[in-house]
Amino acid sequence: MISSVTVCNGCCCGRVDRGNKPVPIDELKQSWKDNDLNNDVKLRISTCLGPCSKKNVSILKVGQSRIWLGLLGEDTHYEALVDWAKNISKNPSDSDLPDILKPLQFTP
Ligand code: FES
Repeated sequence: MISSVTVCNGCCCGRVDRGNKPVPIDELKQSWKDNDLNNDVKLRISTCLGPCSKKNVSILKVGQSRIWLGLLGEDTHYEALVDWAKNISKNPSDSDLPDILKPLQFTP
């Protein structure tokens, strides 16, 4: 099953000059490398995904299903994205969100 994490770094998400929280792109890429995740879970850094009011936005994909997350702002949120990716790379049928991410889920 193909999985991916798409992290928005577009016109609003991550734009600290607009008062938004930064997106830790380098740290995410490093974590993907350190945990050898690239073969199982693609990390994509994206331009605007659409729902800018939910900045910062990410989409977790497992097969055909998508989980939209918004209002990512803390380091712990991004660490949880890494945890989710680590888990799904080992257990492809377990796409449960870490607790800290559950309240951030939304329907676009
Ligand atoms: S810039 Fe991220 S959703 Fe628009």
